[in-house]
Amino acid sequence: MTRPNSVHLTGWGAYTPSRVLTNADLERMVETSDDWITTRTGIRERRIAGPEDTTASMGAVAGLRAIAVAGLEPQDIDLIIVGTLTPDYLLPSSAALVKQAIGNTRAAAMDLAAACSGFVYGYGMAHAYIASGLAKHALVIGSETMSRCTDFTDRSTCVLFGDGAGAAVLSAADEPGGALGIEMTTDTAATYSIWIPGGGGARPPSPAMLEAREQYMRMKGGETFKLAVRRLGSTALKALEIAGLGLDDVDLVIPHQANQRIIEALAKSLDFPMEKVFVNIASYGNTSAASVPIAIAEAVEAGRIKPGDRVVMVAFGAGGTSAAIAIQWTADPANGRRADGIGADAVRIVVPEIDPANPYPPELEGLGEATSAVAR
Ligand code: ACO
Repeated sequence: MTRPNSVHLTGWGAYTPSRVLTNADLERMVETSDDWITTRTGIRERRIAGPEDTTASMGAVAGLRAIAVAGLEPQDIDLIIVGTLTPDYLLPSSAALVKQAIGNTRAAAMDLAAACSGFVYGYGMAHAYIASGLAKHALVIGSETMSRCTDFTDRSTCVLFGDGAGAAVLSAADEPGGALGIEMTTDTAATYSIWIPGGGGARPPSPAMLEAREQYMRMKGGETFKLAVRRLGSTALKALEIAGLGLDDVDLVIPHQANQRIIEALAKSLDFPMEKVFVNIASYGNTSAASVPIAIAEAVEAGRIKPGDRVVMVAFGAGGTSAAIAIQWTADPANGRRADGIGADAVRIVVPEIDPANPYPPELEGLGEATSAVAR
């Protein structure tokens, strides 16, 4: 077992479905307004997974893109972690489905349940795995079909969430750089602030459970808002302290995209300039575990990250999870072009013989299409 000197982010990628749910669509579904949603959340539209899209299928496309950007083949990957709260099935894991879909036969594969912090938690876990010499290359994915656990009759939650996937490849390296400070924590004050009561072992599926709509997400918005601002700040500062860095050393913060006002309150509480914070919430809403890796891919594409930059990714989510990683970027942003041409048709999720089900929410029939079908 050889322990590398460092662990670099070598590949990145994202995939978002083409259907768009706009604020105008939501105005027709629940008692809300474009003005309320825009001013209270910053969200204008979200992407919605079509009947053929799943967490595993979207994650596999994002993953293949990240592998191509890293200049690797799927078989080079030793570990696959999928952060998600919306797995295709309770079992097998979505990571196992991704592994099959991308044509890898070697990797360990598992899902990670840390809600919106799932990708950043997965990054920390994969870093530790590689740093200890157990793997050379790991694929970390955040992928969500939030539209499948959203109650489209509940205006306090249905305006917030969207679907999509993002991924990163981490690789062992001899040169300095990569993750410099990692902090992962869980605040038990928020254990039930966001939850899905039904469908698990405590309240298995039953007609009564469905009648009570317990299969959908519930959230104490105000409570979550305040805790998110506090925890995003304290977790990012801790990661920087571990890295031996200060906020002045940071070139870009990539926060979980939950609410524009949470991100602005975070920047204000840290006295950190918003110009150095990446925000794309207007186009995607809260994609939970997918939000940070989609934002990384878009930040690179937008020329916001260059080699040598110090970047902090930070997330907060259900269960009171929060995680932050301070990295020194080493990859050539031009490598992003290597993923050109990789689309949904590049992966195939093997579906067992079972009565077909259409998972698409009936409230969302007839949505329009995005002009650009793919986030990168
Ligand atoms: N349209 C119109 N009015 C609405 C809507 C809506 N979509 N939703 C709520 N309201 C109303 C409320 O009913 C309330 O009305 P009232 O004053 O008559 O009772 C009023 O607007 C204000 O409601 P608040 O909940 O106080 O609104 P707030 O400004 O707090 O915004 C929001 C709500 C957007 C949910 C905010 O609290 C928030 O973003 N919370 C954090 C969510 C989050 O960060 N989640 C992260 C993790 S998610 C995960 O891990 C899965």
